[in-house]
Amino acid sequence: MYLIGIDLGTSGTKTVLFDTEGNVVNTATCEYPMQQPQNGWAEQDPADWYHAAVQTLRTVTDGIDKSQIAGIGIAGQMHGLVMLDADNEVIRPAILWCDNRTAAECEEITRLVGKDDLMRITASPAVASFTAAKILWVKKHEPENFAKCRHILLPKDYVRFMLTGVYATDVSDASGMQLMDIQNRCWSDLVLQRLGIERELLPDLYESPDVTGYITQEAAALTGIPERVPVVAGAGDNAAAAVGTGVVCDGKAFATIGTSGVVYAHTDRMTVDEAGRVHTFCCAVPGAWHVMGVTQAAGLSLRWFRDQFCQIESACADTMQTDAYVLMDQEAEQSPAGCNHLVFLPYLMAERTPHLDPDCRGVFFGLSAMHTKADLIRAVMEGVIYSLRDCCEVLKELGVLPDDMAACGGGAVSQLWRTMMADIFQMPVKTLCSKEGPALGAAILAGVGVGIYQNVQDGCDRTIHTKAVILPHTDDQQAYDAAYQVYRALYPSLKDVYKMAAASMP
Ligand code: XUL
Repeated sequence: MYLIGIDLGTSGTKTVLFDTEGNVVNTATCEYPMQQPQNGWAEQDPADWYHAAVQTLRTVTDGIDKSQIAGIGIAGQMHGLVMLDADNEVIRPAILWCDNRTAAECEEITRLVGKDDLMRITASPAVASFTAAKILWVKKHEPENFAKCRHILLPKDYVRFMLTGVYATDVSDASGMQLMDIQNRCWSDLVLQRLGIERELLPDLYESPDVTGYITQEAAALTGIPERVPVVAGAGDNAAAAVGTGVVCDGKAFATIGTSGVVYAHTDRMTVDEAGRVHTFCCAVPGAWHVMGVTQAAGLSLRWFRDQFCQIESACADTMQTDAYVLMDQEAEQSPAGCNHLVFLPYLMAERTPHLDPDCRGVFFGLSAMHTKADLIRAVMEGVIYSLRDCCEVLKELGVLPDDMAACGGGAVSQLWRTMMADIFQMPVKTLCSKEGPALGAAILAGVGVGIYQNVQDGCDRTIHTKAVILPHTDDQQAYDAAYQVYRALYPSLKDVYKMAAASMP
């Protein structure tokens, strides 16, 4: 039997065909662009996601016995706003999680719902990345588009709709819309009513392993997946990565470097940071939650640096048939821990944990004529891990940070980045045999939904195995700690300047 996990990411969609032991049978990735029409904005075309899903589903199932496909799970980038009209046509480009145009709407949400009710019900202050703020933005700035809207969906749920014809979502992804009662795992009538959003616009809510629908005849013709194959609710990419790394019970956590970066801890009892520095969402294990800190631009920071400044590395990588990141890693290793006193703030797409500030932006601090490109690359990598350490510090304060951590995401492929994690967190960092975090998690959820696994824990036990553990070294600890102190001091001293700069933007 086979299970399929679709991971609808920000840089591309990866679809993986697994056997029931979690071994990868086939994998395919299809990339797509992100549009940034203004500073702080980020949009994508939902059609790109569906084409990517169709193409990768076709590729991974080519030549296999398709009658053996037991089920499909989808994991997706969270928070993005997709709006459909009465004919199910996409009304405007999707506004993504890393879009920060909604500072004013956050103030409006706080005023309309009330600070205390918002915190009590949605477990968070208003967050610019979350979907509610994006809905209010469209309502205010594009009333003609809002008037046409009949369905609001999250990115993965748009792909589900195209595959199954069903409007559905799961509680982990929906938690990031800021329209749910997080404790009771349902839409909040009170929040919806105060924000003036009709319940009819929203999809039905399911626990992550529930079957939500079946591949339609039309989708079958396009993808090659047989009609009537079940599609489970799935999860937001982080909750799915938790399942795919076995972080499904108390005392377990993982850190990921994808486009965004996340430090995520499972909690059987709902735990909330009253300051809103980290998010508390329902997780993919029915009846449980998770707490996570988010770095907006993790892999995105290094990708930005590669695209803008590493043409030579990219060209060499092509001739050497390797990846530009491999060469960039080697360059970064020429610079010492602490990068000769160069510090990078990775706020290219603003920042969530711990600042929750849509106006802040990236900084190289301490640039000297002695610095080389190696120092700059390493500073970008270190800055991302300092931001993740900020996440760890908040989770520690809340008492949910365990003593070790699994690493996942594209960035965790880098030995240097993994070692930095262990050294900067001062914590053992595990790598797993499977690199497929969210896709494996989505496939495990599909396996639970169709009865191959008894429950999520059983699915994890049967598929996830530790490969290696990186222990923290103390050699570089002093240099990293000193750099982290400078890193920590920078945001408070820039906070007002960021506000000033934001006020001068159109
Ligand atoms: C989580 C978040 C990101 C996205 C993109 O709150 O915004 O991690 O899910 O992957």
